[in-house]
Amino acid sequence: MNTLVILGAQWGDEGKGKITDYLAEKSDMVVRYQGGDNAGHTVEIGDNQYKLHLIPSGIFNKDKICILGNGLVINPKSLLDEIKYLTDRGISTDNLRISDRAHIILPYHIELDRLQEEKKGKNKIGTTVKGIGPCYKDKVERVGLRMCDIFYKETFEERLRENIRNKNEIIEKLYNGKPLDEDNIVKEYMGYLDEIKKYVVDTTALLNDSIEKGNKILFEGAQGTLLDLDFGTYPYLTSSHPISGGVSIGSGINPLKLDGAIGIVKAYTTRVGRGPFPTELHDKTGDAIREKGHEFGTTTGRPRRCGWLDGVMLRYSARINGLTSIAVTRLDTLGGFDKLKICTGYELDGKVVKDFPASLETLAKCKPIYEEFDGWKEEDMKDITKYEDLPENAKKYVEKIEEMTGVNVDVASIGPKRSETLIRTEFFSS
Ligand code: GDP
Ligand code: IMO
Ligand code: MG
Repeated sequence: MNTLVILGAQWGDEGKGKITDYLAEKSDMVVRYQGGDNAGHTVEIGDNQYKLHLIPSGIFNKDKICILGNGLVINPKSLLDEIKYLTDRGISTDNLRISDRAHIILPYHIELDRLQEEKKGKNKIGTTVKGIGPCYKDKVERVGLRMCDIFYKETFEERLRENIRNKNEIIEKLYNGKPLDEDNIVKEYMGYLDEIKKYVVDTTALLNDSIEKGNKILFEGAQGTLLDLDFGTYPYLTSSHPISGGVSIGSGINPLKLDGAIGIVKAYTTRVGRGPFPTELHDKTGDAIREKGHEFGTTTGRPRRCGWLDGVMLRYSARINGLTSIAVTRLDTLGGFDKLKICTGYELDGKVVKDFPASLETLAKCKPIYEEFDGWKEEDMKDITKYEDLPENAKKYVEKIEEMTGVNVDVASIGPKRSETLIRTEFFSS
């Protein structure tokens, strides 16, 4: 196996950053293929905790090339902040490469994101307000600005000014908002782009050359399957494709060359932002999971909604992504709960539903069918280095995930640190 995608099987924040950092050691390249700085990936190394939004979680492993693929939408200011955040902590970003085809997030995208949310009122999506949706909208509308454009300053400036004027018209006329200052944006952002120019290359060529050499490539998903624009809980989702199908479009790898897909599954379910959540817990157990797991957003600090593990969702995720493997995270967080529940199906109008419905109205009518499991103690996981040594009840819980999805759980994570990772099958061994 040479090419492997790590992606979220739920609504994001499953622990993709941790697992990517762990597997990056054995890879040559780590590639983000979608999203932008709406992501928040946490990596803990020794006593240090790092929070990344754009830069791939492979950056802590020296000598790995870290790519921001064409499928990303990149805010140059956020990127420069993140480069500084890392270099201030002694982490080099020399190995960063940015696709010349990636789209650029500009202040009008962020302002439109904010105004759109405000106007939607109680129907708002609860976005991260990073300008993600409006930037992808420009890409689809074919008026976006790309990284390759910054090498042609004159036309870039012309198109940027035209975009600002057009967006100002929308801001003023549709949203009754304040127009943005054209000259300021041009000056400020052309300055940022000048600074990041040195990282911009044809990453598709770089990636494919590397694959041809037989190198090991890791793709790092952001968000999660249920936030995918087509397969998530529309419209409460993000505007990109976190699923494995997004890897080829967002990086330029031949789709037939992707060897495997690891789905990161949090041992329970969380969601940030609005939208349906069948297994959500509105009680003390939900609060206890949030507190024990410090479930607050990495990017926005918002409390994450918590609930039981949803097997209907996991089966759907396994099928859509062609998961070849699952990594279960946060088994330690569930330690100490007497009884645990897993949703094995939905009940809809007296019938059992096993497939995740498209309509939000249908989903709202679905009642989870639960199977109860005996819990385990977190203390019994301390200092474990082998999967076999996990508490029996934790192993039974994991086996249920395998049964529901038909996919092997090859990684069990029992803490945020690299050392708290139990590997059952080695990845990237030939
Ligand atoms: P990502 O967006 O999928 O990369 O996940 P986030 O970083 O947003 O959220 C996952 C959180 O869980 C981070 O704080 C991680 O350090 C932490 N984490 C990852 N795996 C584990 C685990 O097995 N146990 C515990 N306790 N924390 C974990
Ligand atoms: P990582 O990579 C969890 C959610 C937002 C909102 C919806 C749309 O850390 O798992 P957007 O700003 O993308 O238009 O917001 O998607 N969302 C995430 N939720 N983890 C993420 O990323 C997310 N990125 C976006 O909360 O509901
Ligand atoms: Mg996150």
